[in-house]
Amino acid sequence: MFFVWLAGRVRVNVLVVGNGGREHALVWKLLQSPYVHEVVCIPGNGGTATLERCHNLALSISDFEGIARFALVNNFSLVVVGPEVPLAAGITDYLQGQGVMVFGPTQAGAQIEASKAWAKALMRDAGIPTAAAAVFATAAAAIAHVQQHAQDAPIVVKADGLAAGKGVTVAQTVDEAIAAIEAAFGGQFGAAGQHVVIEEFLQGQEASVLAVTDGLTIRPLVPAQDHKQLGDGDTGPNTGGMGAYAPTPIVPPALLERVQQQVLEPAIATLRQRGIDYRGVLYAGLMIAPDGTPNVVEFNCRFGDPETQVVLPLLETPLDRILLACVQQALADLPPFDWRSGAAACVVLAAEGYPESYRKGLPITGIDAATDTGALVFHAGTRLKAGQLLTDGGRVLGVTGIGDTFEGAIAHAYAAIPHIQFEGAYYRHDIGHRVLNANPSHLS
Ligand code: AMP
Ligand code: GLY
Repeated sequence: MFFVWLAGRVRVNVLVVGNGGREHALVWKLLQSPYVHEVVCIPGNGGTATLERCHNLALSISDFEGIARFALVNNFSLVVVGPEVPLAAGITDYLQGQGVMVFGPTQAGAQIEASKAWAKALMRDAGIPTAAAAVFATAAAAIAHVQQHAQDAPIVVKADGLAAGKGVTVAQTVDEAIAAIEAAFGGQFGAAGQHVVIEEFLQGQEASVLAVTDGLTIRPLVPAQDHKQLGDGDTGPNTGGMGAYAPTPIVPPALLERVQQQVLEPAIATLRQRGIDYRGVLYAGLMIAPDGTPNVVEFNCRFGDPETQVVLPLLETPLDRILLACVQQALADLPPFDWRSGAAACVVLAAEGYPESYRKGLPITGIDAATDTGALVFHAGTRLKAGQLLTDGGRVLGVTGIGDTFEGAIAHAYAAIPHIQFEGAYYRHDIGHRVLNANPSHLS
């Protein structure tokens, strides 16, 4: 079989598309594989620029033609797509059409993230537990609906399309819900707001289950939890994610099995029924109800950020073997994935002002001293200019600590952080608090 032949004899070159902490973690993990020769990151960041056997290539992630040409001319066997935007725009369809192997779903499959209304319909057809929801094409109809359901507050209002994590409002009052509906239809999220999903508020604990699939078989990675809100104690505005840890005891093995049976398998089966051959990550954003029901809040069509920065450091199976098995529809043939014991925790260092406006171009120092503690420093918004590392985004770095216990992992990350300096660096001080405070017996 081709896959076995490849596994046995050839070292592959891999192209990773994206420039965040997730992509730095993907590149770092790929380079640990004995089967990976070289990685190119498009466009990459200051972290991928400094990894041995990795080069950044200054192409736009929407330049599908340029990416295909580079992969074909330079013999790159696999393209791994990090962010959702190029997937939703059809990068996989384009590259496959050019004969390039891609890890990441086609445009049809990426709808599971790119349209919340489409994902809701899929969940309904698949019988996946999720919040009751209704979809509206006009502001008037949506407003009439929330007025009729005033007693159900809080009411969750979601712009249908991709809105970089900003399209969701958990409205405590009808007035707040109406304001969110008007903002969406008023163009605040561009085309993403042409439809609005209004759904029931779900109680519980959030968890992220990232699963890999070849369209037939689907396997979860270790479950994670991220911290979306900016401030300590889960306060303030939502962000892309301020920190994460894995494995989360909020999803113990029996519950993970239930997620497999009630969420992941039905999702893939229903995608298949729709003629969608989905090969990539299916990320289930869950709200675990007090009775243990794994309700799906959202699906994403890609690795999570910063979840990837805690899941991959625990993975011992060579990552390229997993990704190639997905692309070649041979996932069932892979032995169970190997994981190191213990836990990983990532704390994000953000620029002052994030997630609103913030400055870029500030010098960063102390990364070597931080990594000397054994912590992993994944770059997100950084760039290298004439040998100097500069901030280049809102989420600047993710510091991942590893430990035999949760406390150890979290302490490890926090011990490394003071070594790193840039003006206005901001981070949360309570990553992992739900576990540390809730049930210490989970920690060992
Ligand atoms: P989403 O982009 O759909 O993941 O939503 C962003 C965040 O809004 C989620 O991580 C939740 O914290 C919250 N959220 C979304 N939908 C619901 C819901 N139905 N009930 C409660 N919280 C929700
Ligand atoms: N950490 C949330 C996400 O990747 O969507």
